[in-house]
Amino acid sequence: MNRTITALLNTQLQKEFEAAYNYIGFAAFFDKKGLSGFSKWYRVQAEEEKEHAMKIYDYLCRINQPIELLPIPAPKYKLENIEQVLKLGLEHEEYITGLITTIYIQAEKEQDFFTKNFLEWFIREQFEEEESAKILIEKYSNFGITPQGLYILDREMGTRSAR
Ligand code: FEO
Repeated sequence: MNRTITALLNTQLQKEFEAAYNYIGFAAFFDKKGLSGFSKWYRVQAEEEKEHAMKIYDYLCRINQPIELLPIPAPKYKLENIEQVLKLGLEHEEYITGLITTIYIQAEKEQDFFTKNFLEWFIREQFEEEESAKILIEKYSNFGITPQGLYILDREMGTRSAR
């Protein structure tokens, strides 16, 4: 297999763990505000990101390529208010979609159809993740700005469970 794809996949493995770390940061922000439902939502999201990382890990193992564990940086975001955090979540997912797209384009260039096929799951997943981030922003702006609305939304978000 071409080394470029291996390097990109190893970087993506790191990026998925980095996403998990970011979402744990979001959970901590909401825990501090007493919004345990929002916190739960992001904790579940963090677990999913770790699963994404391990999917890449497994793929690299299956195609007999080296795993390179790169350092995971501390979250760089300064979390200020709920709306900003929700928007950062969407921005982060768009960033991840961009990374996945770059690997896909590289796989296409190299006619690496196994990797293209592997990445199709991630492309579908990114579509869903961007969609749920957008829905969250909408729900918050429609219902979350009153204390009662925020209470109900927090309860709803707390019902999210791992897939
Ligand atoms: Fe694994 Fe949210 O991207």
